[in-house]
Amino acid sequence: MTRTLAPTASRFVPFEQEVWQSRWERSVEMNIADSAVRHLSVHELLDEDGIERLMRLELTYPEVNGTSELRTLFAELHPGATPANVLVTAGAAEANCLVCQALLRPGDEVVVFEPGYRQVRGVAEALGAHVRVAALDPSGWRLDLDELKRLITPATRLVYVVNPNNPTGTVLSEEERTAIVRLIDSSGAWLLADEVYRGSEREGDEETPTFWSAHERVIVVNSLSKVYGLCGLRIGCAVAQEPVVDELWRRHEYLAISAAGPSMMLAEAALTQPMRTRLLDRQRAILGRGWEVVSAWISEQAGLVSVVAPAATAVSLLRVHVPLSSMEVADRIRTEESVLVIPGDLMGAPGHLRVTHGFEPNYLRSALDRIGSVLPRLA
Ligand SMILES: Cc1ncc(COP(=O)(O)O)c(C=O)c1O
Repeated sequence: MTRTLAPTASRFVPFEQEVWQSRWERSVEMNIADSAVRHLSVHELLDEDGIERLMRLELTYPEVNGTSELRTLFAELHPGATPANVLVTAGAAEANCLVCQALLRPGDEVVVFEPGYRQVRGVAEALGAHVRVAALDPSGWRLDLDELKRLITPATRLVYVVNPNNPTGTVLSEEERTAIVRLIDSSGAWLLADEVYRGSEREGDEETPTFWSAHERVIVVNSLSKVYGLCGLRIGCAVAQEPVVDELWRRHEYLAISAAGPSMMLAEAALTQPMRTRLLDRQRAILGRGWEVVSAWISEQAGLVSVVAPAATAVSLLRVHVPLSSMEVADRIRTEESVLVIPGDLMGAPGHLRVTHGFEPNYLRSALDRIGSVLPRLA
């Protein structure tokens, strides 16, 4: 008798956005589906001393919870945190999974925002939780605070917020942050604040404030992937109260044992000043130029494309005014022009496409021109 891999009771659903990317990203000529700023090479990160140290690094099992230097550097980004509040993980992706595993039991309620990054939604569902979706208002992608008050109740175990948000690029206002923390306080729920895009604000010098220390039931997740252009390192972190870090650490031992040693060494180099500021400045310059290219291109599309200008992140969520689903539009763009974008349907944004503006202007412009040649055929 053949046995299927999935037990019949499993609610496992594939992470469709990632499935879309991993299935197609190696077979297209141009890929603007990414959500990170253009990546760096090792050479751009390390000087000669650093390269020498990397060459001499012993490839033993590293510190399981992360090197103390890297935990110190992550802690410094979260005022009031100490290295004991930090667990280093294989990307924010692992950190998000660990939090879900540690907190969720079948029947728990979880609140997520959409359009959004659907990792926590999918993991929570696989763990048997009931996911309730707070829809952002498409006119400006803001929260509906009344709806949120209705959704976050004493039955809620976890609220997942991505700030700045992928894919809308919106940043929560102080009023919205305060309202969320109040609801966390009154409901007894935990807040998982995914802050991988903190530092990608297009205007002003201020970084989006962290939720860290806003409440004892806040867990913050961050990573080197997005604003630092180092997604290939697969380094992230969870920042939480020490007993929570212990719970995550116990699960990390099952899942990964530890993050990779060479990656942690490179992550230390990235977060050590003045390199950190240099990387953030590089990223903001790329995003500024990229956004100019995207907005100029939109103005040439004869009303077929519109956008709510993203305040942060490396992504633009384009509304496409054609009578096809975003899956169909993205498929036509992929098959007819060999360009990969993310169909909004996979992120709770029907009628939209997500493209990066974190790449070089010429590359971006060529990819967008290819899209521009397809859209009139679909209108
Ligand atoms: C909001 C959000 N969280 C987490 C991740 C995973 O990031 P990492 O590369 O650090 O695992 C992503 C990647 O797209 C993301 O957009």
